[in-house]
Amino acid sequence: MNVVCISASRPGPIRAVLFSLGTVLIFLVTYVYWQPPNIALPSEGNIDDKSLVERQIQFWKALHPLLELHSPACATPRRQGSSGAIGFNAIDGSARPDVISMPVEDMRKMQQAHTTFLEDIRNSSALKSVHNPNTRGLVSTAGGSYLPVFVISLRMLRRTGSTLPVEVFLKGPDEYERSICEGVLPSMDARCIVLSDILGVVDSEVEIAHYQLKIFAILFSSFEDVIWLDADCFPLYKPELLFNSDPFKSRGMITWPDYWASTASPLYYNISSQSVPPMTLRASSETGEIMISKKNHQLTMLLSAYYNYYGPSHYFMLLSQGAPGEGDKETFIQAASAVDEPFYTTSERVAPIGHPKPEGGLSGSAMVQSDPIEDYLLTSHDMWRVRNESVAKAPRAFFIHAHYPKFNPATVFGYSWETTPTVKPDGGDGRAWIVPEGTIKRFGYDVEDYYWKEIEWVSCHLEDKFRSWEGREGICLRVQSYRDNVFNYPESNDLLGIDFEEG
Ligand SMILES: *[C@@H]1O[C@H](CO)[C@@H](O)[C@H](O)[C@H]1NC(C)=O
Ligand SMILES: *[C@@H]1O[C@H](CO)[C@@H](O)[C@H](O)[C@H]1NC(C)=O
Ligand SMILES: *[C@@H]1O[C@H](CO)[C@@H](O)[C@H](O)[C@H]1NC(C)=O
Repeated sequence: MNVVCISASRPGPIRAVLFSLGTVLIFLVTYVYWQPPNIALPSEGNIDDKSLVERQIQFWKALHPLLELHSPACATPRRQGSSGAIGFNAIDGSARPDVISMPVEDMRKMQQAHTTFLEDIRNSSALKSVHNPNTRGLVSTAGGSYLPVFVISLRMLRRTGSTLPVEVFLKGPDEYERSICEGVLPSMDARCIVLSDILGVVDSEVEIAHYQLKIFAILFSSFEDVIWLDADCFPLYKPELLFNSDPFKSRGMITWPDYWASTASPLYYNISSQSVPPMTLRASSETGEIMISKKNHQLTMLLSAYYNYYGPSHYFMLLSQGAPGEGDKETFIQAASAVDEPFYTTSERVAPIGHPKPEGGLSGSAMVQSDPIEDYLLTSHDMWRVRNESVAKAPRAFFIHAHYPKFNPATVFGYSWETTPTVKPDGGDGRAWIVPEGTIKRFGYDVEDYYWKEIEWVSCHLEDKFRSWEGREGICLRVQSYRDNVFNYPESNDLLGIDFEEG
């Protein structure tokens, strides 16, 4: 196993020695604790841990019948209109949208199914979590054009010094790219797992697709403590830090906020036997990043799987009522709340970054999420910046979710995207993330410069490897000229005088 170490600053002689010592230590520690797979690389490309595969299949064979047995057993609820985009307001909550109607009889059926599903999973002895005890790792999913984006994010993870093992789930064998899964990822301590190898062992009429993959990837991952990151999301510091501190240590589950209010239907609270919370309680979730300890969140994950299984037909609509990004995003916190397992919802607002719009405002191509440790220090002292920003300085930035467009170097350039992240007003190459200055400062260092270094590495080393890049030419050259134009001639493309706060 290789540990990829990239020093961010030019080390002096003493630091160089310390750095090498550190590298040796990290190597020794990982060498001692890391269990090599007992079989050589798999021929059919799936995972190499036989007993894990067995456990995954047993688990799914136990869970699937319970999901089917407790189906909502009623028609898809009807939605008249949409809750729309209601910004989260922690002080003045608007009225909760109520745009879904269901016959009382259907609601009773759904409540009954929800209640009995919970009883059954509480009572089941066959549903034993598949994780290896006392393990931690990062889980993601990345098929097709997301795979290059994921590898870039993985390089950003390693750049922080993180040695967390990584499992990337692919929906089916058609998404499995041998050259990447076997030729590239192992050297970065990441491996591919094909979800259909597990889900395919039972016949099911419900297809698990797209955003429903997230909870199933977390459930089937081998790690006990999981940090989930979307393929287009990367950390600015080692995620290990977050596992070792509160709020993760005490709560075992952390989520991050979206811009929008949580707009679950009052009917959902009836179905899940909860009282309807005030709209000011918490924002909806932005689930590009989630942390969960599976050891003490078994019910949360299983109920979330239930909401996802019946998401497209029933629950996604009940949980969002048509709000932006309707999908799996609300299933995690709502499940944890319904089964009363502990969690922490990071309070600091998600912050957009991008270009200024000529007419004012911001054209956001990425979102910034905050360090939950610093956030928790504030909120546990009753300091709520979400109610009054003057009470304290903002926590440092911890994740960038570069979501629109994806920074896939085959497609990111030019005017194809409304946010045109690589284009300056004069049409030349320019930085993507220049405003708001206050948010950029919270990075602590010039993250965008490093991001493009990794985009270049992936473009130039793996240009002929990704299936989605087949037939495309000049990806590496284009990234090199972009980097030359933007980062190697700082006079013409400066950071606008931004001084980064100490990270
Ligand atoms: C689950 O167990 C409880 C007691 O622990 C029992 O009262 C209940 O009937 C059981 N439910 C099911 C569905 O087996
Ligand atoms: C759920 O709705 C039904 C039917 O309107 C009502 O009888 C019941 O009291 C409600 N339950 C809760 C917990 O609000
Ligand atoms: C916001 O916090 C500042 C600093 O603690 C305080 O001076 C100010 O009165 C607060 N504003 C409101 C509206 O509570």
